[in-house]
Amino acid sequence: MRTVLSLGLFGTLVATAHRGCGGHEIGRRNHGMLAHRQAISTDEASEAVSIGNTECTNYYYAPVANLKPYYPSPWPYDNVTNTDLSADILPDDATAMDLFGTINAELMAKFPNIQPRGTLDGNFTTAQNYSYLDPDCWWSWRHCTTPAADTGLVADITTVPEPETWGLGFDDGPNCSHNALYDYLQQNDQQATMFYIGSSVFNWPLQALRGTADGHQICVHTWSHRYMTALTNSEAFAELYYGRKIITDVLGVTPTCWRPPYGDVDNRIRFIANKLNLTTIVWSDDTLDWEEDEPSRDVTAADVTLNYQAIIDKVANGTYVTHGPIVLNHELTNYTMTEFISQYPSIKQTFQHVVPLCTALNLTHPYAETDIVCPDFASYIANRSTSAGSTTAASGAGSAPGSTTAVASKTGWASRNVAYSLLSIAVASSFFVAVTCG
Ligand SMILES: *[C@@H]1O[C@H](CO)[C@@H](O)[C@H](O)[C@H]1NC(C)=O
Ligand SMILES: *[C@@H]1O[C@H](CO)[C@@H](O)[C@H](O)[C@H]1NC(C)=O
Ligand SMILES: *[C@@H]1O[C@H](CO)[C@@H](O)[C@H](O)[C@H]1NC(C)=O
Ligand SMILES: *[C@@H]1O[C@H](CO)[C@@H](O)[C@H](O)[C@H]1NC(C)=O
Ligand SMILES: *[C@@H]1O[C@H](CO)[C@@H](O)[C@H](O)[C@H]1NC(C)=O
Ligand SMILES: *[C@@H]1O[C@H](CO)[C@@H](O)[C@H](O)[C@H]1NC(C)=O
Ligand SMILES: *[C@@H]1O[C@H](CO)[C@@H](O)[C@H](O)[C@H]1NC(C)=O
Ligand SMILES: *[C@@H]1O[C@H](CO)[C@@H](O)[C@H](O)[C@H]1NC(C)=O
Ligand SMILES: *[C@@H]1O[C@H](CO)[C@@H](O)[C@H](O)[C@H]1NC(C)=O
Ligand SMILES: [Zn+2]
Repeated sequence: MRTVLSLGLFGTLVATAHRGCGGHEIGRRNHGMLAHRQAISTDEASEAVSIGNTECTNYYYAPVANLKPYYPSPWPYDNVTNTDLSADILPDDATAMDLFGTINAELMAKFPNIQPRGTLDGNFTTAQNYSYLDPDCWWSWRHCTTPAADTGLVADITTVPEPETWGLGFDDGPNCSHNALYDYLQQNDQQATMFYIGSSVFNWPLQALRGTADGHQICVHTWSHRYMTALTNSEAFAELYYGRKIITDVLGVTPTCWRPPYGDVDNRIRFIANKLNLTTIVWSDDTLDWEEDEPSRDVTAADVTLNYQAIIDKVANGTYVTHGPIVLNHELTNYTMTEFISQYPSIKQTFQHVVPLCTALNLTHPYAETDIVCPDFASYIANRSTSAGSTTAASGAGSAPGSTTAVASKTGWASRNVAYSLLSIAVASSFFVAVTCG
């Protein structure tokens, strides 16, 4: 099976398989530490195993590894001081520098007084003197999502306009172990909006490719998942710019939406995002699934189940007569994904509809590439009501080779030269590059 991967920097490459070794592992959220993993060598035998059985085994995928000089370090980290860093503009990236120069001049003219706050890990102790009037519409302060009219900034998206409709999204992917979740969504003919972290797209490009192959909408979730209001203008720009660019280079689509990690956004950050054509999407309801395994937080699995139930219960009391929630949940750990799967039948039963955000908002062209179409609400619903989708548990069969192409077209996402079936290809390569792992 031959598939074509569109790579912005190198034109079109023919990619027929992948091989393993190299890469990094995601840092645990909020902990500010990277689990630096030794690159592992693989042999022909392990290559012959589909990625579904080797998930979270690092692999080397030349078309993306070759992009490394054009990007900041994935999960930038100072291994001497053991501190998180942010992405910043690469000094030799003239295109990014030029664009930032233009944006920054406008930004300084418009919001000259908004300073970075706190630390990259969200310690806002030093920001305690922030005015209670919330002049910068800082989400982390009192969940402001509507900037004052004179800023010229649009309100963040927090809900969907369709009644009793669950706006489905997952943060923090692509997760190397997400196949069980994606299989489950596929079996239920369910699309979602995936907020992908640029560093993880770089480290797990084949998992990211499955996102588009399965017909999910992709939005930007920055390059390295820092608190955005802590960053300088150029760092904030870089987090969004490279987070968006890696999605274009690997997936062939340029998102027009982003979600601030931890919701942490203010008018300065909104302005930069806006200049990168990124609409800010936050949420109306948080399951707190991401806090479940945080030792510093007091959230148990039972709490998260209750949080899901509370959202579901709000259908009965009329909360969603005029709109639907955008719910925060994650493809972050086995727990967060398992919990979603166990809640899904109940969500489907109670809400009229469960749809990706582009569908709920009728954003039929969610990318800069206008040939890619997201089904509008009416079409998505019409297609589902005639299909035999059911909320069954994952069969454990894994993704069948080739099936992703069918799903992608079935959902109405016009296919283009993106590597739809790459993930299910076991071996059979003519594109292997001799690789030294390490
Ligand atoms: C820190 O990073 C540098 C450059 O990436 C590397 O050469 C060095 O070995 C690392 N040190 C440790 C202690 O990991
Ligand atoms: C947050 O920052 C303040 C002031 O710099 C410091 O005193 C405090 O220990 C920090 N808190 C944490 C949890 O690191
Ligand atoms: C708040 O205090 C910090 C120092 O702790 C200072 O840099 C900042 O300018 C102050 N902000 C305001 C709005 O007063
Ligand atoms: C934003 O979108 C406009 C209109 O499509 C386009 O001209 C511009 O280049 C885009 N800007 C960026 C930074 O992508
Ligand atoms: C429905 O229940 C929620 C959660 O208890 C509550 O916040 C909300 O005000 C209720 N809405 C109505 C319309 O009763
Ligand atoms: C993905 O999920 C697994 C558990 O399912 C977790 O251990 C891992 O840290 C997550 N992160 C990434 C980047 O895959
Ligand atoms: C969670 O982990 C178990 C054991 O490895 C695995 O069988 C299951 O598929 C995983 N579930 C999800 C949703 O990733
Ligand atoms: C989306 O389209 C449907 C009809 O196709 C319409 O009822 C709904 O109001 C539209 N929603 C938005 C947000 O435009
Ligand atoms: C609906 O499904 C049909 C076939 O399953 C597909 O051809 C069509 O593109 C889909 N339309 C939309 C808007 O999703
Ligand atoms: Zn996140």
